[in-house]
Amino acid sequence: MLWVIPVVAVPLTAAAFILSICYSRRLKRKRKGSRYWRKKQGKNDEFSLFDFEELLEATSNFSEENILGQGGFGTVYKGQLREGLEIAVKRLASHSGQGFTEFQNELQLIAKLQHTNLVRLLGCCSQEEEKILVYEYLPNKSLDFFIFDENKRALLDWSKLVEIIEGVAHGLLYLHKHSRLLVVHRDLKPSNILLDDEMNPKISDFGLAKIFSSNDTEGDTTRRVVGTYGYMAPEYASKGIFSIKSDVFSFGVIILEILSGKRNSGHQQFGDFINLLGHAWQLWEERKWIDLLDASLVPDSHSAKMMRCINIALLCVQENAVDRPTMGDIVSMLSSETMILDEPKQPAYINVRVGNEESSTTLESYSINDLFSIPFIHLFI
Ligand SMILES: *[C@@H]1O[C@H](CO)[C@@H](O)[C@H](O)[C@H]1NC(C)=O
Ligand SMILES: *[C@@H]1O[C@H](CO)[C@@H](O)[C@H](O)[C@H]1NC(C)=O
Ligand SMILES: *[C@@H]1O[C@H](CO)[C@@H](O)[C@H](O)[C@H]1NC(C)=O
Repeated sequence: MLWVIPVVAVPLTAAAFILSICYSRRLKRKRKGSRYWRKKQGKNDEFSLFDFEELLEATSNFSEENILGQGGFGTVYKGQLREGLEIAVKRLASHSGQGFTEFQNELQLIAKLQHTNLVRLLGCCSQEEEKILVYEYLPNKSLDFFIFDENKRALLDWSKLVEIIEGVAHGLLYLHKHSRLLVVHRDLKPSNILLDDEMNPKISDFGLAKIFSSNDTEGDTTRRVVGTYGYMAPEYASKGIFSIKSDVFSFGVIILEILSGKRNSGHQQFGDFINLLGHAWQLWEERKWIDLLDASLVPDSHSAKMMRCINIALLCVQENAVDRPTMGDIVSMLSSETMILDEPKQPAYINVRVGNEESSTTLESYSINDLFSIPFIHLFI
């Protein structure tokens, strides 16, 4: 029996860890009295501290024109440092510093989560009421922007789509197996997969997590489901049980969306079914999986790989979590052309309309107290 430490993707709580580190480093820096040495250009692995004034300048005083998006916990701005490096700056709503210090160790771990398929956290700024996280800037928006748009899909050919699928798989495998901890993303969806200048995928919003030590699992039975309908595994949506297998479920939905160009969530009718999963499964059973593919994909010489991708996706979205493969299995299946794949069993939700993305539960509705007593469920596998 293996211990699994679930990690709850709760941006504010993680921000708390990060800011506590920032704060302690700031103190050190003040004590030193001299200018703290840091490098902010590209290659370094260092977690940097930024001055508020520096970020003001980088974002033109947090001007509206620089807004990239509005997240659950604050607004994200595009910025450019004096040295030229482009950054994404997340300015969090201000809160009391309560509870910050006890999470210092966990924060260091989050800052160390680094993988080519994860968006990198470059540093932070904590000054009076301001709490700010600084990420690498990715110029090509997110995956949803491309795959659901008829015209933009043309920019992604089959080999690029495969690279994206494989990249996300590697990023997730890293999260699931990093060190002895296990990071469950819990809100994996195309809008959380950002694209760099070469259209390589980078999973975002993963490291803003609260990590529970195994000792913490006593006594907390609250269960709050956060995430987005359409991507949530059934056991998570209905019972709040999350595990690496709930991320696997979301990953399967994403593969089907990439291949079909259609959203699982929403008000679309798919043949006899009201969601993409049922539709994909029926086509698979009838050996008509080619009909699932978006018109931009020409099966021709890639049909074997396309079929394997659909097979893998259907394995991921199976109703029963234990039937789903792990990310390790999936990476092997994706990289092999000969490995025999299992026949998928019936997916979850085949007769359920999944709400559209806009009706997703958002973290915004939680108070700061909720965030510090966030639920976890421990799992044995
Ligand atoms: C930002 O605000 C400061 C002080 O209010 C002002 O001097 C500066 O010109 C502003 N910068 C921009 C780019 O708006
Ligand atoms: C991605 O970003 C790079 C750099 O900004 C740009 O040259 C390229 O055209 C973009 N690709 C797409 C498909 O938008
Ligand atoms: C967790 O529990 C183990 C064994 O019960 C104990 O050795 C360890 O010190 C505890 N850790 C914390 C942080 O309480």
